[in-house]
Amino acid sequence: MGIGSKWYRKSLLTVAGIPLVEKLSVAYGKRLAGRFVAGETLEQALAEVDRLGKLGIMATLDHLGEGIRQIGEAEAYKEQYLKLLEGIAEKKLRSNVSLKPTQMGLALDPAACYANIREVVKHARSRRNFVRIDMENTPYTQATIDMVRRLRKEGLTNVGTVLQAYLFRTARDARELLDEGVSLRLVKGAYKEADDVAYQKPSEVEGSFKSIIKLHLDKGAYTAVATHDDAIIEWVKTYVRTRGIPKRAFEFQMLYGLRMGEQAKLAKEGYRIRCYVPYGVMWYPYFTRRLAEKPGNLMMVLKHSLKR
Ligand code: FDA
Repeated sequence: MGIGSKWYRKSLLTVAGIPLVEKLSVAYGKRLAGRFVAGETLEQALAEVDRLGKLGIMATLDHLGEGIRQIGEAEAYKEQYLKLLEGIAEKKLRSNVSLKPTQMGLALDPAACYANIREVVKHARSRRNFVRIDMENTPYTQATIDMVRRLRKEGLTNVGTVLQAYLFRTARDARELLDEGVSLRLVKGAYKEADDVAYQKPSEVEGSFKSIIKLHLDKGAYTAVATHDDAIIEWVKTYVRTRGIPKRAFEFQMLYGLRMGEQAKLAKEGYRIRCYVPYGVMWYPYFTRRLAEKPGNLMMVLKHSLKR
């Protein structure tokens, strides 16, 4: 990523917090967001996951929502996740679920948030399913990890979280959580973080990313590598080949609407690949992060919307 790209990412992430910009984007951006969101309803999302399954692509379903303003909203989101888990079980789809801690109330009432997530994880266990707690920005990192540890202590082991390679603290978190047997999705990191907590240079983020991936693979822990970056994907393929690590020991993950051809190709090559499938009406912050990651994503949605 050059300096121009870094500026683009920072400015988009900053603009995203301004209410007027949000209102305008909600009014006009919906058509564009369709590129990254599987639909507004549960039925649309389940149908899309079914379609992906036929291509050999597994899924993790995300009912969009984050940064709620009243704790009652969290209760409603929790109910949506219970329904979602029912829908997945009924249709026998190869999909787990991903949720955001602030969507479940972490910023407003941590105890209520824990109770909500606990109920979702318990329900998932009864349906033999798994819950991934997405990792948000640094005010929530420790609290998210603590929740996962507490759930596991209660015997709820069908839950895991995400580690962001751009954070300095991740090297230590990765070692500790790996020793504890926590399931982790490994990513570069999507939020704007300060230079006293996070690497800013892409080369440093990539170095950290590779080292946590290596740590997982070497330890024989099931490894989820979530990236669209060809250089990282090729590096993983080569690493596992030279170490004789079987394809069932790891999976790639990508976001819905990005590199769908590559996702199908990986499945055809026998790699495990999981698509992160968001749905629902609260698509705005998710959409802005995708645009901020890569100027090319903006061009892609614009081209796509002109074609319709
Ligand atoms: P990045 O955007 O750095 O691009 C690197 C290179 O990859 C590009 O230069 C290009 O060569 C190639 N590339 C990327 N996108 C491409 C495209 N669309 N087409 C062609 N080539 C492309 N973050 C977070 O903070 N918390 C979380 O919980 C999650 N969860 C999550 C789940 C899943 C399944 C994924 C894939 C990602 C996340 N993320 C996340 C987001 C993650 O942290 C990161 O911001 C994005 O994945 C972008 O980084 P990449 O590694 O994908 O490539």
